[in-house]
Amino acid sequence: MKVGVVGTGFVGSTAAYAMVLRGSCSELVLVDLDEDRAQAEAEDIAHAAPVSHGTRVSSGDYAALEGAQVVVLTAGANQKPGESRLDLLEKNAAIFREIIPQVTRAAPGAVLLVATNPVDLLTDLTTQLAPEQPVIGSGTVLDSARFRHLMAQHAAVDGTHAHGYVLGEHGDSEVLAWSSATVAGMPVADFMKAQELPWNAEVRREIDRGTRHAAASIIEGKRATYYGIGAALARIAEGVLRDRRSILTVSAPTPEYGVSLSLPRIIGAGGVLSTLHPKLTEDEQRALDKSAEVLRQARAHLGG
Ligand code: 2OP
Repeated sequence: MKVGVVGTGFVGSTAAYAMVLRGSCSELVLVDLDEDRAQAEAEDIAHAAPVSHGTRVSSGDYAALEGAQVVVLTAGANQKPGESRLDLLEKNAAIFREIIPQVTRAAPGAVLLVATNPVDLLTDLTTQLAPEQPVIGSGTVLDSARFRHLMAQHAAVDGTHAHGYVLGEHGDSEVLAWSSATVAGMPVADFMKAQELPWNAEVRREIDRGTRHAAASIIEGKRATYYGIGAALARIAEGVLRDRRSILTVSAPTPEYGVSLSLPRIIGAGGVLSTLHPKLTEDEQRALDKSAEVLRQARAHLGG
């Protein structure tokens, strides 16, 4: 099981490190325009292999991606404090137009896993540039994890028992699907009531704010986010590599909305195997429609 990572900044390197610690794959190749950086990251990460799962880690050029089942795309600029993800579109679209043909030539059989922001629009662009390959965007897998973390924190249980999906844009217009959120299999409101925990609009607003603005506040404090997304990328890659049929809120072209956005989707060997449409309240559906509209408008600026 071979994975390529294109872009060895914080996100690419952390994703590679997460894959080594989790034993996601048997071979990992890191590719970057800055070959010295890729080589140094590969060497550093390789030193974690003997004390984890023995993954073979190396660096190389695009040709070294040959035979990869998954190529993770993390190249591009990230947000500066105060910038939105959509502000990165032109810069990173230009980088993707350079990169994708080279990746496709080297690894025509790979599932392409896009992480660079704005991830939904770059998922759209990658689908256009590599029409023969399955394309997945990391989408709101990270936001759903943030949502689950905050819900679990309020519920005072461990994060694996809180479930909830963040839908739409991986960005400011994303939608927390409260109506289908559960803790211990119970509607979240029922769980909080049973545990005699406060549950009201103000608590929900706080969780919404914490989820939606997590990246901005982390970027304010340390200029970038990478641990959460690194783990999310490893998890998505495993869904593909092990044909796990994992349900994850990844981004993919969605004809009903005319753009790539996140919905819960079943992920397996071929990438997205199917898309789920959770039952939403009218307000949630309206917010999701609005989020799709934000993405379509941003794409129109790019002339797409
Ligand atoms: C994040 O949400 C910045 O998209 C990145 O952490």
